Amino acid sequence: MTIQLKSTEDIVKMRVAGKLAAEVLEMIGPHVQEGVSTGELDRLCHQYIVEQQQAIPAPLNYNGFPKSICTSVNQVICHGIPSDSKILKSGDIINIDVTVIKDGFHGDSSKMFAIGEVPAHAQRLIRITQECLYKAIDLVKPGITLGDIGHVIQQHGEAHNYSIVREYCGHGIGRIFHEEPQVLHYGKPNTGTRIEAGMTFTIEPMLNAGSRYTKLSNQDGWTVTTKDRRLSAQWEHTLAVNSDGCEILTLRSDEQL
Ligand code: MF3
Ligand code: CO
Ligand code: CO
Repeated sequence: MTIQLKSTEDIVKMRVAGKLAAEVLEMIGPHVQEGVSTGELDRLCHQYIVEQQQAIPAPLNYNGFPKSICTSVNQVICHGIPSDSKILKSGDIINIDVTVIKDGFHGDSSKMFAIGEVPAHAQRLIRITQECLYKAIDLVKPGITLGDIGHVIQQHGEAHNYSIVREYCGHGIGRIFHEEPQVLHYGKPNTGTRIEAGMTFTIEPMLNAGSRYTKLSNQDGWTVTTKDRRLSAQWEHTLAVNSDGCEILTLRSDEQL
């Protein structure tokens, strides 16, 4: 139960892995269209990661996960399994979650995509969830606590009448995919572990349009959906804490922070 602080050399490698994860999300964007299957999106990402990036897709065979990315559509909160029979249609929202391993280190990031004409309420859920991530990132610097991060996410989400998923959280990351600490997306200010320079972790809030309750598929053992079948959204970045704030290791060119 100790948090592994990263050396300057480790951070250099984390920066490379983070950039590769960001580039996978940039590459896949133009393919995320009405009529494509999530199985095809998985193949495109797998091939790009293995052949172009000479990297490893971390989800593949992780605790038995069968594919190289997670694709979570509409009421699926996280860990959706890509499938050739899941065809995207106009009005869908999808989270694509990419984790790569390069030179022994992980980079983990996800973003939302809207397919065709998406209702305004779904666009708003996507936007507020991204704002939760950005508000949390804005706080991150040595001396704040994990509770401060959870609190700002919970406040912003609940202020817009959304609920915050509690069963899944952000995580320390490095040579190990999921390491300490757990980064909860709810909490109280000035509680929990204090942030220090050299920590690397993800923040990956999941917000639901309805209740916060989740259901794990008893068919595949992975797919997590909202219990009430209403929409859910998620965004994720991998961060490295430095002396005066943090670096977003998975920042994409479509983001201006
Ligand atoms: N990328 C996910 C996360 O953000 C974890 C996926 S694990 C898998 O932590 F096995 F479902 F791929
Ligand atoms: Co993660
Ligand atoms: Co992820």
